[in-house]
Amino acid sequence: MKTESTIAGLRAAARAFRKAGKSIAFVPTMGNLHKGHITLVENARRRADVVIASIFVNPTQFGVNEDFDKYPRTLAADSALLAEAHCDLLFAPEAKEMYPDGRTQLTTVAVAGITDILCGSSRPGHFTGVATVVSKLFNIVQPDMALFGEKDYQQLAVIRCMTRELCFPIEIIGVPTVRAEDGLALSSRNGFLSSDERRAAPEIYRTMSNLKLAIEQGQRDFASLASAAQGHLKKCGFEPDYVDIRRQDLGAAGPEDRQLVILVAARLGSTRLIDNLAFEFT
Ligand code: PAF
Repeated sequence: MKTESTIAGLRAAARAFRKAGKSIAFVPTMGNLHKGHITLVENARRRADVVIASIFVNPTQFGVNEDFDKYPRTLAADSALLAEAHCDLLFAPEAKEMYPDGRTQLTTVAVAGITDILCGSSRPGHFTGVATVVSKLFNIVQPDMALFGEKDYQQLAVIRCMTRELCFPIEIIGVPTVRAEDGLALSSRNGFLSSDERRAAPEIYRTMSNLKLAIEQGQRDFASLASAAQGHLKKCGFEPDYVDIRRQDLGAAGPEDRQLVILVAARLGSTRLIDNLAFEFT
């Protein structure tokens, strides 16, 4: 696997693949890779001739009091995992390469509406940082398709919307969340959990599964269900940011809706975990 750290180097390599008539699948990441990321690469491998991954801890999607500085940087281990998964090319730029003028870049990509709710309201500016860096990466790599984990449900919705509205000729593919045996969604942030917190963390998935069951059994007062679930998570030691039951397009859900998604964000100690469960029923 080749690694490029400059935009010019990545562009030249990608251009050569395109000239040879190869299709390109792109997997953008912030590194500290786990089985969830590798599943994205494996999925990409099956869909395209060439797989390009990126590792870039994007400063503009972290708020001032968030974990940008302590976000794990594990490039050597990540490169080994990507090579093992038959990734062809890794783009691993420094912040100066992506943001030569620092965080004061004048052009940003803001997706309205769906970024006002859920993580968007508790992390102001986060999705503008994501949409901006993903747009830049799309322009640099120019892939045929890009793969993202469904664990970041709202992020995936934002990227789909941005790709469609800005006419990027890129197919966006969502890949199901990979979970530990006890149900905890794999995430780079799980590494911040103490052993007690790690034992408690799967309660998020159990709580979502119980909510899903209650809805399937006919309960329709989504606001009360969500508020009871928040109370339960609090009792289990979490500090919930939100528990919400929405339509799968993230619109407000009504009793007649049959395609729903349960979304949770909750802090356990100093670690903010997010997860979701999408389901449909008759
Ligand atoms: O999901 C992530 O790892 C990041 O938000 C992404 C999409 C790579 C943008 O920095």
